[in-house]
Amino acid sequence: MTERLDGKIALVTGGAAGIGLATVKRFLAEGATVVFTDINVKAGEKAAADLDTPKAIFMPQDVSQEADWEKVVKATLDKFGTIDILFNNAGIFRLINLPEITEKQWDQLMNINVKGVFFGMKHVIPIMAAKKSGSVINTSSIAGLAGSPQATLYGASKGAVRLMTKDAAIEYAPAQVRVNSVHPGLIETEMADYASDVYEAPKTDLGKMHPLGRLGKASEVAATVAFLASDDASFITGAEIPVDGGVTA
Ligand code: NAI
Repeated sequence: MTERLDGKIALVTGGAAGIGLATVKRFLAEGATVVFTDINVKAGEKAAADLDTPKAIFMPQDVSQEADWEKVVKATLDKFGTIDILFNNAGIFRLINLPEITEKQWDQLMNINVKGVFFGMKHVIPIMAAKKSGSVINTSSIAGLAGSPQATLYGASKGAVRLMTKDAAIEYAPAQVRVNSVHPGLIETEMADYASDVYEAPKTDLGKMHPLGRLGKASEVAATVAFLASDDASFITGAEIPVDGGVTA
C-alpha cells in the first residue's frame, strides 16, 4: 500500500525532541524522507542514530539565524532536489510575570518563536511556489488563541505565528502553497514539566484543565501535522487547528 507522504521531502525544525521528534517519526512512517534540525546537536545526532535510516537526516540549526536557514535549505536541495513539507516547530516556552520580562528575554524568545518561523517561510515557500505545490505547518499554541497568566511574551510570539500563517496562506494560495497552524494544548514533553514547576501544580491537575481530562501526547500533534502535510488536507489553508483536548472549545 502506498503511504500518504510517499516520495515527499520534509523539513522539520526542533526535531530532536518532543513534538518535533514525534513528527519526524510519523512522517517517516507515512513514507516521507525527513531532514530534521535542532540547536541541540547532541540530541539530534542521537535521534538520527536511533532512527537509523537513510531517510532521516539530522542537520544542526539555530532557527533564529538566517545564515543557518540558508545552509540547511541549500544542503537539503543539494541532496534531495526539493522541499515539499516544512514543519516550523522549534520554539521555547517561558512564563514570566509581565513587569519582570527583560528586553533580553523578549528578544531571545521572539527571535526563536517568531523570527525563526519567518525565516523558514521566507527561505522555503519560494521553492514550493516555483513548483506550485507545498505544505507549511507552523506550531502556534493555545496561547496564540487565548490569554493565560504569565504568558504576555509567549502568547505574543504564538499570536504572531497564528497571523503570519494566515498572511502567508493568502499570499501564496495562488501558487498552491498551503500554510496552516497547529495549536497544541499542554503536551507531555519537557514543556509540561516546566509548566508544572511554574504553576506549582502536578501534571495530572494541569491535564484536568483540558475537557478530555488529560495532557496531550506529542504523537497526537504529529498525527494532525501529518494530515495537514498530506493531500488529505488539499483544500485546507490558512486554518488554525487546535490539538488541545477541547480547552479552547
Ligand atoms: P521541546 O522542548 O520538547 O522541543 C523543542 C525542540 O526545539 C528542542 O529539541 C530544542 O532543542 C529545539 N530548539 C529550541 N530552540 C531552538 C532553536 N533556536 N533552533 C532550533 N531548535 C531549537 O518542546 P515541544 O513541547 O516539543 O515544543 C515544540 C513546539 O510546540 C514549540 O514551538 C512549542 O512552543 C510548541 N508548543 C508546545 C506545547 C507543549 O505543551 N509541549 C504546547 C503548545 C505549543
